[in-house]
Amino acid sequence: MKVLVTGGAGYIGSHTAKALAKAGHEPLVLDNFSSGHRWAVKWGKLLEWDLAATQMLPQFLENERVGAVLHFAASLLVGESVRNPRKYYWNNIVNTLNLLDALQTADVQRIVFSSSAAVYGDPKQVPIPESHSKEPVNPYGETKLAMERALQWYGNAYGIKWVALRYFNAAGADPDGDLGECHDPETHLIPLVVQAALGKRPPVEIYGTDYPTPDGTAIRDYIHVTDLADAHVRALDYLVQGGESRALNLGTGQGNSVREVINVAAKISSRGVPFREGPRRAGDPPVLVADASLAGRTLGWKPERSDVETIIRSAWNWHAKIHKS
Ligand SMILES: NC(=O)c1ccc[n+]([C@@H]2O[C@H](COP(=O)([O-])OP(=O)(O)OC[C@H]3O[C@@H](n4cnc5c(N)ncnc54)[C@H](O)[C@@H]3O)[C@@H](O)[C@H]2O)c1
Repeated sequence: MKVLVTGGAGYIGSHTAKALAKAGHEPLVLDNFSSGHRWAVKWGKLLEWDLAATQMLPQFLENERVGAVLHFAASLLVGESVRNPRKYYWNNIVNTLNLLDALQTADVQRIVFSSSAAVYGDPKQVPIPESHSKEPVNPYGETKLAMERALQWYGNAYGIKWVALRYFNAAGADPDGDLGECHDPETHLIPLVVQAALGKRPPVEIYGTDYPTPDGTAIRDYIHVTDLADAHVRALDYLVQGGESRALNLGTGQGNSVREVINVAAKISSRGVPFREGPRRAGDPPVLVADASLAGRTLGWKPERSDVETIIRSAWNWHAKIHKS
């Protein structure tokens, strides 16, 4: 099947384009390169378009006989979303509505949407099931939740079938070394830790050492990017086979603390990871861990590479390679 991959030049989208090609699909990457990379577009045709200007998209979808869309394109910095909500409402809501209009015009009936654990807000129970209350604590999470709800109403009214995948903390790099994580600015712990070990960044800041966790630092659920990519291919198959529209958590159900991540990176790199201890950040809960059992049952999906050692080793290999070349 031909599959439009919006944001396919970005971190998770590019890994998924590779997984689609491996599974025998044809990815068509749409990206405006606001945060994506040309070197990451290695599978399928590239459309250098912005979802703010989609006039040509319906005709393209029809001509190419596109069967489904994986929608990764978004703005995703939580702190920036608080300072500049306008950017998030326009890019994550208005531009997603543009995409849905184009799909409707071209009669493309399947979409897999990149949602986020940010839809839940402060967890009232851990691990977090899909039925947990949705009370986002920042504009980023609000925009993801708004689009999940729009998908539900569009589905009821227009028949579009959708899966919203709520990722927890995506991490790691392609095991073949073709792709890796490269955000600018980087805000994710694992690339920050790996780059600090390589001497390419200042010491890692640990935000909060007095959480009610075994070592006092915050615990997150890290999921390998190739496991996420695999879940997208399965979600697509699920929709093709007539599966019902639904939201699914993608995580491991296991958490790792900031100190554990630093210690594992130090072991893998055989170098120290320089770090500084600082105060907690407002809005950071102590523990965020997914109950991902529904994704397992619905998609037959099981994370294969998401133990923290495998994740950090793959990230280390990729960062060491790009910093050498
Ligand atoms: N990285 C994570 O841990 C994480 C966690 C939860 C959810 N998500 C979601 O997953 C998706 C992908 O995240 P990522 O880490 O790969 O981010 P990324 O920034 O690497 O990728 C996003 C891509 O979308 C493109 N893009 C953005 N706005 C666009 C527009 N208007 N038109 C065309 N292209 C546009 C960017 O250029 C980029 O290539 C996002 O929707 C994000 O909210 C990510």
